[in-house]
Amino acid sequence: MATGSIFCFFFLAVCSWSGTLGGVTTTTPFLAVDVGASPELMCSYSADFSNPRIEWKFSKEGYKSFVYLDGKLTEPYKDRAQFFNTGIRLDNVTPKDNGTYTCEVVKGTAPSLIGKVTIDLLVRVAPSVPTISVPTSVTTGSKAELRCTETNGNPPSTYKWYKNEMLMPENPKSSQTFQNASYTLDAKTGTLTFYPVSKDDAGDYSCSAGNGIGSDMLSDVVRMEVKNSTEGERPGSAAESSQHLLKKSIGMILILYHTLQHETWKSDRSATTEEKF
Ligand SMILES: *[C@@H]1O[C@H](CO)[C@@H](O)[C@H](O)[C@H]1NC(C)=O
Ligand SMILES: *[C@@H]1O[C@H](CO)[C@@H](O)[C@H](O)[C@H]1NC(C)=O
Ligand SMILES: *[C@@H]1O[C@H](CO)[C@@H](O)[C@H](O)[C@H]1NC(C)=O
Repeated sequence: MATGSIFCFFFLAVCSWSGTLGGVTTTTPFLAVDVGASPELMCSYSADFSNPRIEWKFSKEGYKSFVYLDGKLTEPYKDRAQFFNTGIRLDNVTPKDNGTYTCEVVKGTAPSLIGKVTIDLLVRVAPSVPTISVPTSVTTGSKAELRCTETNGNPPSTYKWYKNEMLMPENPKSSQTFQNASYTLDAKTGTLTFYPVSKDDAGDYSCSAGNGIGSDMLSDVVRMEVKNSTEGERPGSAAESSQHLLKKSIGMILILYHTLQHETWKSDRSATTEEKF
């Protein structure tokens, strides 16, 4: 109320038009629950609201819907939620219920009042087995990106990388084993980038995903080979490589031509040899 009054003192015109900001509060601004739980989302309003209209809305990325409107629970919530004057209870929540709930309280009759609170509901989910993506063969000096991802975990997982079963530190310089390696490791995105790749980076790689719920999940182990970059294998310009391809094709045609000639000559000869017997 206090904030609303000060606000109105300065912006009287706006306030009288949109209604005073009333005293709407929640004791549960952040809730974190497991799948299957039945959390109570609290919403209280000050006495000056007397007999208000209450609305509950649900929103998450790319999605919005009403939960409670016109004095009743909406169709999707009818059989799985309870409304009471100080809040709502959602029964048996699933990851789909994860998101933000807004409780809006409106008193239409003068003096009109309006207020709202938001409640962030986090439905905790353990991570799934992460998918690992490792280039099987890379060249020294080049850039190699290794990826680890899983999309089930809520809150989102963070990632660890292992080389030959040894945990890789985020900063290679901080460890004796990895001090000569040049890599960056992003625990949030799960991306491990070698640049430049060196011979010593070859090895068996695996990763794990964890978000503090259940145990960390381990990926498969994938081997990364490192080849020497040699002069001849360096990719040239597009013009050069197409020229190279053309030369190679002409070469192939010539070889084919010679082989065919040889075969014809051979069969001619065997024909004549057969004739003799
Ligand atoms: C779950 O909801 C919380 C709170 O609204 C939000 O911060 C988080 O990003 C949501 N998680 C997912 C996976 O949508
Ligand atoms: C790192 O490089 C230094 C200098 O070349 C070498 O002495 C050391 O043995 C290397 N360490 C590892 C772990 O390979
Ligand atoms: C790769 O190159 C290094 C020196 O640049 C050499 O010592 C090594 O034998 C080479 N390895 C292969 C497999 O060609």
